[in-house]
Amino acid sequence: MIISSKDNSELEELRIRYLGKSGQLAELSKEFKGLSPDQRKDIGLLFNDVKTAIQNAIDSSKFSTLTSQPLAADPSLPGINPPLGHLHPVTYAIEEINRIFTQIGFTRVRYPEADWDWYAFGSLNFPADHPARDDWETFFIDVPSHPKLGNIVLTPHTSNGQVREMERLKNSPPVRMINIAKCYRRQSDVSHTVMFHQFEGLVIDKDINISHLKGTIDYFVKSFFGPNRISRLRPYHFQFTEPSFEVDISCDLCHGQGCRLCKEGWLELGGSGMVHPNVLKAGKIDPEKYSGFAFGWGVERTFMMKSGVKIDDLRLLYSNDIRFLNQF
Ligand code: PHE
Repeated sequence: MIISSKDNSELEELRIRYLGKSGQLAELSKEFKGLSPDQRKDIGLLFNDVKTAIQNAIDSSKFSTLTSQPLAADPSLPGINPPLGHLHPVTYAIEEINRIFTQIGFTRVRYPEADWDWYAFGSLNFPADHPARDDWETFFIDVPSHPKLGNIVLTPHTSNGQVREMERLKNSPPVRMINIAKCYRRQSDVSHTVMFHQFEGLVIDKDINISHLKGTIDYFVKSFFGPNRISRLRPYHFQFTEPSFEVDISCDLCHGQGCRLCKEGWLELGGSGMVHPNVLKAGKIDPEKYSGFAFGWGVERTFMMKSGVKIDDLRLLYSNDIRFLNQF
């Protein structure tokens, strides 16, 4: 809006003439001295009314000069969009992982993130006091332990869902679960946060073998990372799978040549293997009739390995810095 300087200065002159320190009203008020207190009170009220009336008259004439001016703003311009938020990148990754696996018949499930030792370790073929329990530097909850199920832990992996899923399905395959949940380990550095997410696949049926595991991994790798990436299985050890493998995917930066980001052309995705017969037994499934495969990988880690995502400190994902999150 434009206010012409002439109009403004005219109004200012009026204000000074009537309402200013040495204006006409101020002069008039000097004469109140000679009045009795009662008279002064009455005159005072009247005087204030007059002052307000003058003030309003000046203000409203200012208003009318303002509105009578042409508008400098163009009302036909489009409005300004309010800022829009978006979901956290880890939530997007979880949605995408879920979509990829449900497309080939997996069912998304969730199991407790504070669970009994039996589900997190015991049923997974960990003997009591086996040092492998320390691999995950687990948080134990300070409550009395259950005579059969043991202590309660913050789940260090999503593998606690394996025997729980067998129980949910009344111990009768087929099992095709994708369990995505929070996990907790006592580790915090550029590639670890104390809380993180894993997605765990478990398939149990008749005649399931390693080629089913490899085929599922390849399907996931191509859907999530793109058609140019390939996977490989590297022998490893887990208590609850036999044989066990680490899954690697080809590095997107050097295409398998070897570079600063990767180990000789490969990046490590996470663990996998054929379900150990003792785990099937713990889920009351006959290992003579059925076999299965399982895998469990970190969501944050998997997301970071996507082409074009360059995060040099995984903890940034949970620092709630809007400048960082807005990049995704
Ligand atoms: N639970 C293992 C981990 O957290 C991963 C895994 C899952 C390995 C399923 C084999 C089978 O590292």
